[in-house]
Amino acid sequence: MSVNLEKIVNNFIDINDFEYDRKFSRVARLHKYWSRKPWFIIGEYVKKYSNNGETVLDPFCGSGTIGLEAILSGRHFVGYDLNPFATFLAENSLNTDYDENSANNDLNILQEEVSKKIMDLYYVGDDKYILYTILGHKNSQKYNAVIADGLFKNKTKTVLEEKNLNPKIRFSKDLEYPDKKFPKKFYKDRFSYKGVSRVSDMFTKRNLLSLALLYDVIQRSKLANKDLFLLAFTNTLLHVSKLKAENVRPLSVNNFWIPDDFIEENVWWRFLDRLNNVRLAKEALAERSKINDSNGLGRHKIYNKSSLKMKEVKNGSVDYLITDPPYGDTIQYSELSYIWNCWLGKDFRIEEEVIINPVREKGFSEYQNQLKSFIAEAKRVLKKDGYFTLAFQNKDLNIWITVAELIRDRGMTLEDIFSYSTLGSPYNKSWSKFSPKSDFYVTFKNTRGKINSKNKGVHPEEIARDIVDYLGDNNGALFNLNKAYDLFVAVVLSKIFEGYTIYACEKLNVEKVIGLFQQIIESNYGNIQKRLFQNI
Ligand SMILES: C[S@@+](CC[C@H](N)C(=O)[O-])C[C@H]1O[C@@H](n2cnc3c(N)ncnc32)[C@H](O)[C@@H]1O
Repeated sequence: MSVNLEKIVNNFIDINDFEYDRKFSRVARLHKYWSRKPWFIIGEYVKKYSNNGETVLDPFCGSGTIGLEAILSGRHFVGYDLNPFATFLAENSLNTDYDENSANNDLNILQEEVSKKIMDLYYVGDDKYILYTILGHKNSQKYNAVIADGLFKNKTKTVLEEKNLNPKIRFSKDLEYPDKKFPKKFYKDRFSYKGVSRVSDMFTKRNLLSLALLYDVIQRSKLANKDLFLLAFTNTLLHVSKLKAENVRPLSVNNFWIPDDFIEENVWWRFLDRLNNVRLAKEALAERSKINDSNGLGRHKIYNKSSLKMKEVKNGSVDYLITDPPYGDTIQYSELSYIWNCWLGKDFRIEEEVIINPVREKGFSEYQNQLKSFIAEAKRVLKKDGYFTLAFQNKDLNIWITVAELIRDRGMTLEDIFSYSTLGSPYNKSWSKFSPKSDFYVTFKNTRGKINSKNKGVHPEEIARDIVDYLGDNNGALFNLNKAYDLFVAVVLSKIFEGYTIYACEKLNVEKVIGLFQQIIESNYGNIQKRLFQNI
């Protein structure tokens, strides 16, 4: 094989080695969103592959990480996302204005109008309020609640009386809250067996009333920073829902799951905590924009539409396209954002979502077709010689192969491949627990170059053997499973752009590749060396 493994390995970067100003990571505290890309890496890509005043496009913009880096470096940005919550968040992430006094004024309005009404619902006497109550039947603790004083201090574990545990809750007729039904079944979990079929069932009566009171005041009062308060509100929702337990963060494994010992958390206190995050994020954003705007911020336009047809973007008008599309079935954006969108009264046209979701009968081939449309659109809007970076998690090799072949067949060339270990993930050492954790950033150039002939083929075994030999020098001391797997993905991609077909690639999954490494080590190395491999 003619792949230069040395060169590929040099582009494998441990993200923990990256130097960046950590205080600016606070921008992400504006709101939870899934698979946010590290801003400091995105920033480097934007600067490397586009120039000041040029147009950067992200067709799957999510929370707006790429958009922010683009405008901060003086590029204009166009973003698309089908999820209305994502575009709401992205708009707010790209708005770098922040006036602390004005936010304080708004908070004073809420304090006056609603904080007492809500806090009274959690009052247990003696200047003490419920911080949270454990409600699930599995509770075997000697306490069923934690209370604190009015300043959220002197927390004490206690046993609540029935009247405080189950207070009588009355809703006034004109108070609104979302009563929409959940779809019959979510792909990632269902909860109807826990008595939850509507969004409102996700909350206890006390918390639902508190949320409705709070939402009503945010909507009715003429807040100068309404969006920021709405963001603090939506970011409160999951924490005060039945998805939370003492030791469970809501949706922590990207899955709806109501723990048996769920808790009922104080809505007002959680809201203040989330508001504090929003404010920290906004301060960081404002500070960053001051440092960056020597050339002025770029303009931006964000569309809440499917990017599989970007009517608003003209042929050949984009200088740089950088994006991370949804990868397969791992993160169900529309399901996970359902509660937020319902409270904000926004509809999500899920039929157009790029996703694998068996419950909605969206399988691999439909997803593949969607990626095909996306790549056709990317080709259409990109300028000649413009660059296109795909950021993708490396878990599913088949998705990578599909995407790479589609891009190659559209006549683009491979520019470079980088792999970044994700934050805080030390390299995994055991065969059995292995799951790849790096992010790949693969850049293509829209050269309209001639398409390589495809009459060459390579067997996965050959690739695996070269990698084991390369990393296995020094009796395997350099061998590292993550590196080996990442190298495998990178070599496969390089080969595809050299015009090769990868034989039997439809059966190539993580287990198969790991199996190949194991087989090769087993048959090519002596016992002492094998032991070295096993220990790594
Ligand atoms: C991997 S996420 C992007 C995350 C983003 N890079 C960030 O830093 O927040 C993929 C996004 O694609 C969106 N999406 C799914 N189908 C879409 C479609 N047809 N058109 C536009 N966006 C879509 C999802 O809502 C999701 O926000």
